[in-house]
Amino acid sequence: MRHLIEIGDLSVGEIDALIRTAQDIIGVPERYADACRGKKLATLFFEPSTRTRLSFEAAMYELGGNVLSVSDAGTSSAAKGESVADTAKTVSCYADIIAMRHPKEGAPMVAAMNASVPVINAGDGGHNHPTQTLADLFTIWREKGRLGELTVGFCGDLKFGRTVHSLISALSRYEGVRFVLVSPEELKLPSYVKKDVLARGGIPYEQTTDLEAVLPTLDVLYMTRVQRERFFNEEDYLRLKDRYILTPDKLRGARQDLSVMHPLPRVNEISVAIDADPRACYFKQVLNGKFMRMALILMLLEVGYVH
Ligand code: NCD
Repeated sequence: MRHLIEIGDLSVGEIDALIRTAQDIIGVPERYADACRGKKLATLFFEPSTRTRLSFEAAMYELGGNVLSVSDAGTSSAAKGESVADTAKTVSCYADIIAMRHPKEGAPMVAAMNASVPVINAGDGGHNHPTQTLADLFTIWREKGRLGELTVGFCGDLKFGRTVHSLISALSRYEGVRFVLVSPEELKLPSYVKKDVLARGGIPYEQTTDLEAVLPTLDVLYMTRVQRERFFNEEDYLRLKDRYILTPDKLRGARQDLSVMHPLPRVNEISVAIDADPRACYFKQVLNGKFMRMALILMLLEVGYVH
């Protein structure tokens, strides 16, 4: 039985297979309309979400399956003190596959160790978010036609932004990728990611606080929200939240073929005036995420169909 807890649980070959499957789903959706007939996905979300939960649920419905959902920790037995392990054992009795989001880092892994069905990490604290990475990789692949030979900028909260950690880990496995890490001093990429991913892989990267200076060098710019819920103190959040705001004026210095990405939700980081710019890809990421989650569900349920 397979789980997806961190993006490294999938090989590069499997990511290719998911991309091929997602493309086939887009091309011939009727082929997949009954693929998961009779199967149930449980979405257990102990933290706020719009896209990730709805995208998993839409994915399962489009595969002909059904969905059971806990969308508010306050209404589940977690509020009575039930452990993640017991919740996972329980939900395994009802569902064929589980997607879990949890504020505690490692909670989906604990769920996987105790569940008797596949578990997908839908975001654990400030740690990882592998299915957002699948959405991001498919978007880069569709926009650029490749996942290697790219200069990728990450801007904003690189410390707590779990989507950043997972995407850096994924892209580090492709040839010719270099990273430009733009953040305030206080929100730099954690040293464990630098050590375990960048240093270990010998991946070139630069760190800076100056977005405008590096913008012209980028193929992809991945903007992020400052993760208010992970701050210990509101003053720090207020001081840092609007440090980087991408405006049409700043974008003037960027390449014409830049892809501007953002996992969403956006707060202030990208001016809405950029939404109409052909370089804006963040709503495409939302749609791409649904197709990749469909492909992932097919893979983990081993119902065939994966190319
Ligand atoms: C991200 C997350 O939950 O980490 N959102 C998402 O799933 N698309 C990013 C964020 O909350 O800032």
